[in-house]
Amino acid sequence: MKSSFSFDDCSYTVVTTLAGKPKPLPCGKGKIKPLLKNITANVQAGHVLSILGPSGAGKTTLLNMLTLEKKGGAPTGFLKLNGRPFTLEMYKRNCAYVQQNDALWSCLSSRDHLEYAYALFQPDLSKQDRETKIKQVLETLGLAESQHIKAGNQFFRGLRAASSGASPSASPSRSSRRCSFSTSRQPESTRRRPR
Ligand SMILES: Nc1ncnc2c1ncn2[C@@H]1O[C@H](COP(=O)(O)OP(=O)(O)O)[C@@H](O)[C@H]1O
Ligand SMILES: [Mg+2]
Repeated sequence: MKSSFSFDDCSYTVVTTLAGKPKPLPCGKGKIKPLLKNITANVQAGHVLSILGPSGAGKTTLLNMLTLEKKGGAPTGFLKLNGRPFTLEMYKRNCAYVQQNDALWSCLSSRDHLEYAYALFQPDLSKQDRETKIKQVLETLGLAESQHIKAGNQFFRGLRAASSGASPSASPSRSSRRCSFSTSRQPESTRRRPR
């Protein structure tokens, strides 16, 4: 049977200020603003589902909802992977989310990011096992040669956009990812070297 992902009757609301602006604090007067209303679609393995809309239409909000990102709003609806309710555990095992913006620390290299990720997410690994896993990830992502280049930002060039494969926020041990969601603007080449 082909894998499939479906979302049915998905809505998302946030509480805004009375003027409709994002609310910096949960206290004080506010009003409910719907950002998504009753969105339904499904996609099968081997297919690409494109979500199109002008800026502000709610694409990022929808992707954040589909990837179970907690962004402070109230999601409702039904998400299913292979007919089963989609849980965080299933997400961690099967999915990857390539976000619109880099999720990297500009002054850390890809090796630094992985070292921190393993230290934080798998603190029980021995030093040797951690090193073995880091090497494996770096090689799998084609980052072995550039592992000491800092991520970089708009002020200095570096290995920008390594987030597409090596987000430290995801569990670094998952090598078999089957679904991936991607936002519209892809980061630049992962192979760019500093001047
Ligand atoms: N926390 C929030 N509070 C109020 N409005 C929000 C919040 N988050 C997003 N929005 C609004 O929801 C709309 C959809 O945003 P977004 O999903 O980022 O659109 P897109 O990705 O299609 O450009 C925008 O008008 C944005 O300003
Ligand atoms: Mg967006």
